[in-house]
Amino acid sequence: MPKIVVKNKIVNLNGDEMARVLWNKIENELILPYLELKLSNFDLSITNRDETNDQVTSDAANEIKKINVGLKCATITPDDKRVKEYNLKKKYPSPNGTIRNILKGTIFREPIMIDKIPKIVDHWNKPVIIARHAFGDIYRSKEIVVNKKGKLTICFEDEDGNKEEKLIHNFETGGVGLAYFNVFESINDFANSCFNFACKRKVSLFLSTKNTILQKYDESFKQIFDDVFKKFKKEFEKNNLTYQHRLIDDMVACLMKWSGGFIWACKNYDGDVMSDLVAQGYGSLGLMTSVLQSPDGKILKSEAAHGTITSHFRQHQQGIQTSTNPIASIFAWTRALKQRAIIDNNSGLLKFSENLENICIETIDNGFMTKDLALMCGPEQKWITTNEFFDIVKNKIEN
Ligand SMILES: NC(=O)c1ccc[n+]([C@@H]2O[C@H](COP(=O)([O-])OP(=O)(O)OC[C@H]3O[C@@H](n4cnc5c(N)ncnc54)[C@H](O)[C@@H]3O)[C@@H](O)[C@H]2O)c1
Repeated sequence: MPKIVVKNKIVNLNGDEMARVLWNKIENELILPYLELKLSNFDLSITNRDETNDQVTSDAANEIKKINVGLKCATITPDDKRVKEYNLKKKYPSPNGTIRNILKGTIFREPIMIDKIPKIVDHWNKPVIIARHAFGDIYRSKEIVVNKKGKLTICFEDEDGNKEEKLIHNFETGGVGLAYFNVFESINDFANSCFNFACKRKVSLFLSTKNTILQKYDESFKQIFDDVFKKFKKEFEKNNLTYQHRLIDDMVACLMKWSGGFIWACKNYDGDVMSDLVAQGYGSLGLMTSVLQSPDGKILKSEAAHGTITSHFRQHQQGIQTSTNPIASIFAWTRALKQRAIIDNNSGLLKFSENLENICIETIDNGFMTKDLALMCGPEQKWITTNEFFDIVKNKIEN
């Protein structure tokens, strides 16, 4: 089987624990034997982030900015326990956050649909893609606890010292307060990422807010999306796509009623909650992909939505064969390869990526799957080990 030549590079960010074990197997067994592919490799393992004082994470993001296509293995975001476990110099921030700040993109989470796997919400037969605006709102808020009588205000002061102050509440007794913000530039980037992604995937787009209550804050999101839509209107019409703003409560009801097949642009908190709800509704974290798309639509970084699967790694370290689901990680590779194929106009590479995705789906539909998926199918369903799953997929690529 002659190798398919891939002219331009892809940036490959390696990660931690069981996700790294899967990642290396995918690269060495399912990708490199079939593609003449140059990878620009960055080791984002927690030990290398510590050795480089996290410089490797920024370097990797800047390389993706240059090359446009990247893929990332799941990585540890250290908490206090991890700092101790790896004897780290400090509690480094989430690499995903660092990369997102440099690429300024939006994350789109999309489930992989497989007929054989029962869904909790049975009638969701097309994907719901959640786009989360991962900036500001409650995640950058300041809180206050009030323990006596008094007034709480919010105040903006411009550079010349002019003040605009509003009363929030006159406290008679104790209570709590909160202030948060967002910036137009970030909302504008979010809107552009969403419209670009909708055009690329040919899927309609919905934005949800509570602008009936937050008539300035949430209304700004609606206004900005309406403005950006003007630029994309023709392309949407050409592809029979629609864009609509809906109230968050209405949108949640629609999610339950409809059968999927749309992108849902969510504000930060809504996206946090809804992405987990939707992941459960479709079945498994092991079937959820995640793509970071830049506002101009040029840069794409793909990954699996799950973490480093620590409990499986502990078994792996003891030499026990695990049954870890590699599908979302394989799709992280194929989604990045597809993007490379589209940019480079490489039909052979596009066919290879689509074929690999179809083989994975067909293998599961034929009843060969890892334990997490088998448990969802019921007690009769047999499961196989990770290595056995790779062997079947590899065999299918070659025949
Ligand atoms: N994008 C990322 O890089 C990312 C995302 C989430 C968590 N993490 C990191 O991963 C580590 C573990 O975090 P966690 O346990 O919360 O999340 P996790 O996704 O690793 O695991 C959550 C649960 O789902 C199961 N699971 C997840 N993926 C699976 C798969 N492919 N096959 C079979 N079972 C699977 C796990 O066994 C576990 O029960 C943490 O250090 C965290 O910082 C990284």
